[in-house]
Amino acid sequence: MRESAKSTITIILATGNREKVNELRPLLENISPLFRVTTLKELGVEIDIEETEQTLEGNALLKARAIFSMLSERFSSIIALADDTGLEVDALQGVPGVYSARYAPTPDGIAPTYQENVRHLLYCMKGISDRNSRFRTVIALKGSILFGDKQFEFEHTTEGVVSGSITLEPKGTAGFGYDPVFLVHSTAKTYAEMSITEKNTLSHRALAIQKAIADLKSLLEPSSTPLTSTHSPQ
Ligand code: IMP
Repeated sequence: MRESAKSTITIILATGNREKVNELRPLLENISPLFRVTTLKELGVEIDIEETEQTLEGNALLKARAIFSMLSERFSSIIALADDTGLEVDALQGVPGVYSARYAPTPDGIAPTYQENVRHLLYCMKGISDRNSRFRTVIALKGSILFGDKQFEFEHTTEGVVSGSITLEPKGTAGFGYDPVFLVHSTAKTYAEMSITEKNTLSHRALAIQKAIADLKSLLEPSSTPLTSTHSPQ
């Protein structure tokens, strides 16, 4: 049996998105007083990680690994946490998927706005009756934790999926990204018609985070089995 972790475990969030940080920090710090959550910005780190992989899991791992290898020497116990999200539309063979942020064509490859992406999606879906789709988030954890005098390294991913359909036109004003055109089957509302609180209880990202949190909790138990790089069961 392993010894318990005793010193602070620094969790580094690989995102510059303030909303994601505000959502994640309290959830993660609630797991254990040993966890301290910080961001690249707070550490004074500037890094631009190009998402070159063809899958959400590949890109989430790529980001977690890059941050881990950059910062692991600074902390005795560290976990790099990265996420990647995509909207998969059945009639478009899973597109935009991993390219959700860069879907609409723009001059000179400038990143499209959320509105441009939504407009492009509705244009590509014109006349298509099968509007089934899903949001998928993969969270990757890459860590090294000191248990007693033994360093334990792990890599792990979790996934959250929500099924829905693409509406014929935008509905609702809350949220961001594709929220106004993603109708959640279990609620008959688009994400943009929900309050932040409601979305955060059922969203793809919330489901992935809940699983990651459960896995991090079990990691702290001395009798637990090591985390691996496979998805935890849904
Ligand atoms: P990211 O991996 O979280 O940066 O997400 C990639 C893209 O997917 C974003 O630029 C958004 O267009 C879209 N996206 C991610 N999460 C959501 C969401 O919760 N609602 C709507 N769109 C989202």
